[in-house]
Amino acid sequence: MKPLPDVIAIDGPAASGKSTIGLMLARRLGYLSLDTGIMYRALTLAAIRQGIAPSDEARLSRLAKEISLQIIPVSVENSGPHYTVWLDGQDVTWDLRLPEVDANVSQVSTYREVRAEMVRRQRLVAETGQVVIIGRDIGTVVVPDAGLKLYITASSRERASRRQRDRLRQGYDEDFDSILADVTRRDHVDSNRRYSPLQPAEDAIVIDTTGRTADEVLDEVAGLIAKKQTEEPA
Ligand code: CDP
Repeated sequence: MKPLPDVIAIDGPAASGKSTIGLMLARRLGYLSLDTGIMYRALTLAAIRQGIAPSDEARLSRLAKEISLQIIPVSVENSGPHYTVWLDGQDVTWDLRLPEVDANVSQVSTYREVRAEMVRRQRLVAETGQVVIIGRDIGTVVVPDAGLKLYITASSRERASRRQRDRLRQGYDEDFDSILADVTRRDHVDSNRRYSPLQPAEDAIVIDTTGRTADEVLDEVAGLIAKKQTEEPA
């Protein structure tokens, strides 16, 4: 039997459930998980706090190199964040999903040098192995030789309603239409940007999770991994 894939890359559009599946999978395998969206969100928050405009590519590129960022997994089973995130020595966990971060993160994530710095940091984590990395460009750019690549998606209405449920659990009652508009807008920017646009890697397995529970999807992924372990080399 072949060993488990050392790095598992999970990509997909906004609120597709990729972070939930990635985290559950990491727990099942005893792997570390890294949700790279957190890194772009933390940078966006730092920029907002320092009054840097999302259009100021030069300052954002510098800021990406300057910020100190620590993402510490939390082991409790709850519906809140699964990480504590420290930005320049301050706990910002609860601020990463503020509406102003949602509104600006995709623009901040379009710049070449911003991405290069984030990718550099992400590869340091990937090199440690036994890791599930979640994002938009993991299978295409960050770890193109990952042992397993998944692209997790769902219809935009389903993604918006999942995000609305998450937000309700966190105590925010947000209007469905405005969540749907944000999800659709971010998908558009992420898929059409010049550097590492959101798209499935050629060798990614695409999983449409519309109408399915996280447990069902996780079982499918576990089955795919088991199959990979017993496959004969082509
Ligand atoms: O959780 P959600 O799907 O809403 O978003 P996220 O994964 O936290 O990512 C927030 C934003 O960061 C995305 O809309 C992208 O613009 C950017 N991002 C990226 O460009 N590349 C990544 N590897 C991860 C996130």
